[in-house]
Amino acid sequence: MRVESSVRVLSIALLVGSCSQQPPAETPAPAPIATPAQTQSGQAAGAPAAPPMTAADSARVAAAMAARRDSIEKDRTRLYNEELAWLAGRENQPAESVYKNIKLFKGQPAIRVLNIMARGFSPALGVSCSHCHVTGEYDREDKNTKQIARDMFAMLNGINAELKKIPNIKSTNPTVNCSTCHRGQARPGAGGGGPPRPAASPPG
Ligand code: HEC
Ligand code: HEC
Repeated sequence: MRVESSVRVLSIALLVGSCSQQPPAETPAPAPIATPAQTQSGQAAGAPAAPPMTAADSARVAAAMAARRDSIEKDRTRLYNEELAWLAGRENQPAESVYKNIKLFKGQPAIRVLNIMARGFSPALGVSCSHCHVTGEYDREDKNTKQIARDMFAMLNGINAELKKIPNIKSTNPTVNCSTCHRGQARPGAGGGGPPRPAASPPG
């Protein structure tokens, strides 16, 4: 029990820590993936020839993507601020004494849960709160993305434990977090190099 919870605290610290910093310097990209230019124009290296996009097309796509990112970010900031106001005065109480359905973050200050939501999970996946929640009723389990997030968290602990066993890694504290895979996408592609996949299908 002790050990388990200290592992949990460690990974929470890493998660949050990584979110408040700039993304780490790019690690060398794995061999053949699309160049940024190709990705922007929506063409994957090695993918069957798609009709070429004009510069105007890619500018439109880029603008639409930026607008979507902005509105998602605005939405989650608004929802975060609402929850922050609700929590006022109880920020440092144990999460499970304030919230109704805490399984991962027992013993953590309540405010940390909110911060992980807003600075960790949501930006890592490029989503707003509604991707995993019925907003305003955050204890509910209607969306399976919420439990997937818990399972991903557990997977992360396993990966990080394995990572630490690999000798001769350059970083002193090599860590994988949600963003390592997700990089702002709800559904990181397995193939790599392709254009971002369509937004996640409505969870449920
Ligand atoms: C990727 C999925 C995901 C996203 C996105 C997400 N959450 Fe959560 N949220 C969770 C999970 C998982 C839990 C349960 C944590 C646990 O079991 O300890 C949770 C729990 C909560 C709780 C505690 C509810 C209770 O009473 O038990 C609140 C409040 C909350 N989230 C707010 C937010 C807000 C606000 C946002 C957007 C800024 C957000 N969440 C975004 C997955 C998510
Ligand atoms: C080792 C890589 C990896 C890490 C680390 C990882 N994920 Fe994932 N995640 C994936 C993959 C791959 C999928 C499946 C996407 C698909 O449906 O094809 C996925 C799917 C998900 C989904 C379902 C998305 C949807 O819309 O269907 C959620 C939610 C999620 N991850 C949350 C998280 C959270 C939160 C973290 C950090 C605690 C995390 N993931 C860490 C690789 C990862």
